[in-house]
Amino acid sequence: PLLPTDLVGAIATLKRDLNAVILAHYYQDPDIQDVADFLGDSLGLSRQAAQTDADVIVFAGVHFMAETAKILNPDKLVLLPDLDAGCSLADSCPPSEFAKFREKHPDHLVISYINCTADIKAMSDIICTSANAVKIVQQIPQDQPIIFAPDRNLGRYVMQQTGRDMVLWQGSCMVHETFSEKKMVQLKIQHPTAEVIAHPECEEAILRHADYIGSTTALLKYCQHSASQSIIVVTEPGIIHQMEKAAPDKQFIPAPPLNTCACNECPHMRLNTLEKLYLAMKNREPEITLPESTRLAALRPIQRMLDMSR
Ligand code: 13P
Ligand code: SF4
Repeated sequence: PLLPTDLVGAIATLKRDLNAVILAHYYQDPDIQDVADFLGDSLGLSRQAAQTDADVIVFAGVHFMAETAKILNPDKLVLLPDLDAGCSLADSCPPSEFAKFREKHPDHLVISYINCTADIKAMSDIICTSANAVKIVQQIPQDQPIIFAPDRNLGRYVMQQTGRDMVLWQGSCMVHETFSEKKMVQLKIQHPTAEVIAHPECEEAILRHADYIGSTTALLKYCQHSASQSIIVVTEPGIIHQMEKAAPDKQFIPAPPLNTCACNECPHMRLNTLEKLYLAMKNREPEITLPESTRLAALRPIQRMLDMSR
């Protein structure tokens, strides 16, 4: 299809015509971040989706994020520029297997990381994100056993932070598991004064080198206040675009993946492009849909998360 030469201008016009809001995650391409009305981590984006009065939500992120927006807004049109933008972590938790896993622990409360499908959310008691997982687990009575799914790395981190034992589903994020401890140590030797900041989806061997651990929004805020002039960033490097805007005098060094031929950009997030975002708005598709019974069952634990993390 023929694309307008001024894609950014055309997107702004469509946004007005559709009364649309563009929500984008920090792992999107920088040119997508620059046209977004709101940029955020998964929690910030869910909060925005819960309170928007736009008619159309254009979600520049991955499928589970746009699906969460649809669960919160059944009457709005929710567009995802590329419907194939999935998530390895969400894929690591198939609903039929998770149902059997849950049956083995019938007295356990199920807390699921938002990086999962609507079917998994529908089988959960509370949803959490990397920004509020510790806070949510701390609110659960000590004698209540917990299943935490699907991210074993975030689950282990929450267990360490809260001193709680939890039954973990063994899922993980392909992007955050590409980092290598050996490469990290080499990088620290090259930059002895640099601080290391990391996302809790990383493995334990990586997190033990981190001076600060947090969600993408928390990492971004940390950079603004850190006294350090150089910062090694151990998460998807899309966030560095905002870090450089927020602290232009600092040096941000992306942590390298284990295999130097590999890349630590999220292949799912990066399926979205500015061109696809424009076409989605022009054609009003691809649209997120889901069965009403699943939506209602998935809404309850999301609502609980929003109530518990005000
Ligand atoms: P947050 O948005 O909670 O920082 O999580 C990062 C991520 O991997 C999203 O897919
Ligand atoms: Fe999923 Fe990891 Fe990509 Fe986030 S970075 S969307 S958790 S694969």
